[in-house]
Amino acid sequence: MSRVLIAPSILAADFSCLRDEITAVDAAGADMIHIDVMDGHFVPNISIGPAVIQKLRPHTGKPFDVHLMIAPVDPYLEEFAAAGADIITAHPEAGPHFHRTIQAVRKLGKRAGAALNPSTHESAIEYVLDDLDLVLVMSVNPGFGGQGFIDSQLRKIEALRRAIDRRGLSTILEVDGGVNEGNASTILAAGATALVAGSAIFSRGEARYAETIRALRGETV
Ligand code: DX5
Ligand code: ZN
Repeated sequence: MSRVLIAPSILAADFSCLRDEITAVDAAGADMIHIDVMDGHFVPNISIGPAVIQKLRPHTGKPFDVHLMIAPVDPYLEEFAAAGADIITAHPEAGPHFHRTIQAVRKLGKRAGAALNPSTHESAIEYVLDDLDLVLVMSVNPGFGGQGFIDSQLRKIEALRRAIDRRGLSTILEVDGGVNEGNASTILAAGATALVAGSAIFSRGEARYAETIRALRGETV
């Protein structure tokens, strides 16, 4: 199995110095930077938009894994691509034509992801799985960091692992919400290949970012 990807979610970072936070997790071994975009409509919280992403872009070479929790999503794809997103992940519920959303992301030259809410069945992406670069299993209800991992999502991760392997795909299977050092190995054993972690990393303080990232990956600290 290839190396586990760790994507710190900057939602839990210190917003007064995002640039420093990003360079710190980059230096600590993050594989991608997970950026949560919330609109106060699709989810009950508001975070950051493309202007902030654009300003952060020059400060790290790591891919920006942009998780869009906005509806409608289609009118904003171009702006997020131009701002520096590398992976653009949307929720199938965020628009009437999810296949079109994925095609639009790919046409912009970006990698496309699908985010599945805890109550959304994996069959929602049955007919688009081959077109996806990433599937994001939400293991909390989207909107806030610091929530507890919903255990039922382990079965969904296993089901998606089987579907991806059956089709011979190399889709990144990413898990987002309530991931910490205590449950990371269980999530990886279920078949995840990438872990998003917000509070588990940023609440530790910069001096411990690297050891936390290594621990999440399952490497001995
Ligand atoms: C929730 C976001 C997550 C969140 C994870 O809507 O999608 O990325 O930041 O935070 P933790 O790791 O604290 O659960
Ligand atoms: Zn997220």
